[in-house]
Amino acid sequence: MRIDLISLFPEFVAQLASHGVVGRAQERGLLALHGWNPRDCAEGSYRRVDDRPFGGGPGMVMLIDPIRACIQAARGAGPVTTKVTYLSPQGRPLTQAMVRELASRERLLLLCGRYEGVDERLIAAEVDEEISIGDYVLSGGELAAAVVIDAVARLQEGVLNDAESAAQDSFENGLLDCPHYTRPVEHPLGDVPAVLMSGNHAEIDRWRRQQSLGRTWLRRPDLIDEASLSRTDRQLLDAFRIAGEEPAKAAKP
Ligand code: ADE
Repeated sequence: MRIDLISLFPEFVAQLASHGVVGRAQERGLLALHGWNPRDCAEGSYRRVDDRPFGGGPGMVMLIDPIRACIQAARGAGPVTTKVTYLSPQGRPLTQAMVRELASRERLLLLCGRYEGVDERLIAAEVDEEISIGDYVLSGGELAAAVVIDAVARLQEGVLNDAESAAQDSFENGLLDCPHYTRPVEHPLGDVPAVLMSGNHAEIDRWRRQQSLGRTWLRRPDLIDEASLSRTDRQLLDAFRIAGEEPAKAAKP
């Protein structure tokens, strides 16, 4: 996958993306990240990229032409056409289903705004979709772009090891993930649930599914309402409700 990123701080995103899973994806040639800075496409000795908003008010608005030139340059630099995705708090809230769809594309072109945003005419003419990473305001789209890049990179075939398998992640099946434990078995903060050491994989799967259902019910009831639960799921969840709490919530020292 090729990702073009238009930002006044492309190095910032490249830096975030050079570690961990995204770094590995790049090393393995599974992901190529290219940064484009509107300042490089801006005219005049000041290379101006923003100006004051018409109608007054605080902040600055990013100019149409430097961004447009970047979009054209980025489009021309890659083999296939691509949608322009603008990161903004006005966008559609990002979900794992959207991440899966984005990850299936050959190319992404991510546009990051700064200041009060981008001139609306640029958005109307060039932007195909707007994505928000949550109902809060960041000072620019760069962190949101890094979130999208990370989420998309880890779904590229060959990026994750078996042990990191994305199929088991929270949200991949519409539910929150189950709890995880490692050594030691006994600890002053609590013991590892016995079922996980039983060696009985059917029981372990059942327990994990039940925890996953129970946690989702407790913490994100909205997701339970949307999930299509089987009869067995309903029975597991009923048993979880009757039993009461989540496991291993040790008393704080
Ligand atoms: N830019 C500023 N805030 C944002 C948000 N919440 N999501 C995506 N891009 C943004």
